[in-house]
Amino acid sequence: MEKLYALFGCPVHHSLSPIMHNDAFQNMNIAAHYHAFHVEPERLKDAIAGVRALGISGVNVTIPHKTAVMPLLDEVDPTARRIGAVNTIVNRNGRLIGYNTDGPGYVRALEEEINVDIKERRILLIGAGGAARGIYVSLADRGAKQIDICNRTVSKAKQLIDECNASVSSVVYSLNEAEERLGEYDILINTTSVGMYPNMEEMPLSLANMKEGTIVSDIIYNPLETKWLKEARKRNGIIQNGVGMFVYQGALAFEKWTGIFPDVQRMKKIVIEQLR
Ligand code: ATR
Repeated sequence: MEKLYALFGCPVHHSLSPIMHNDAFQNMNIAAHYHAFHVEPERLKDAIAGVRALGISGVNVTIPHKTAVMPLLDEVDPTARRIGAVNTIVNRNGRLIGYNTDGPGYVRALEEEINVDIKERRILLIGAGGAARGIYVSLADRGAKQIDICNRTVSKAKQLIDECNASVSSVVYSLNEAEERLGEYDILINTTSVGMYPNMEEMPLSLANMKEGTIVSDIIYNPLETKWLKEARKRNGIIQNGVGMFVYQGALAFEKWTGIFPDVQRMKKIVIEQLR
């Protein structure tokens, strides 16, 4: 019987996940279908009950449900618990188990696209929201030497570090302070939505003090190259856009559901075609 996989979010109509996962199922001759469901926050509990009632095999959870879904599950993986967010649910014989593949997906994309060894690197994260939290925990688990965080609201960055309890050295800066110190870092990562369509003239941070050869990574994928990445390219940075994180979080979810790691190059091609 064909299996059903779902995305729960609000909104979901622009999501590229259905096209990406359905192509992978087809390509591998797996009898399964992925469908996006618009779920309002007050219906999340019912939606999860629906997963149990209908025997939906796996779910991706997106904004605004990633934290709210946790108490509705039978088990939450320890990394997802530290991140404080679940984006992938596996239905294992009726038990719903929550994972986070966003942070691990980001790290895997960085390692495979840029070919960087994260160990011993000095990293600056810009932003302190949900995406930053996943990336922070996953980079720390991978052995980063130093992960500093700067954010418009400095107290939120402090809170992130206190709550994530990662074994890495971290200092918190205001955006202005971080701009001054940019030359100290090997990798700069924008985790905020600054520069995303339609506000494409905005930049999260000035790159005036960045050193040549710095890896500059933006989790935004629409536009494919933000103004910030264009600026980094001009300054001879090694740049990475957000397609990799999106594709790898999906690929890791796909692997959790099916046991098979899909063809990420194919997934990337499909996503980029949609964004062009
Ligand atoms: P997500 O879960 O996608 O990370 P979020 O939790 O809303 O989203 O976090 C958004 C991040 O982008 C925050 O770090 C936010 O800064 P604040 O903590 O000060 O709100 C940052 N951000 C959003 N819009 C911004 C802007 N115009 N300038 C600077 N930072 C901004």
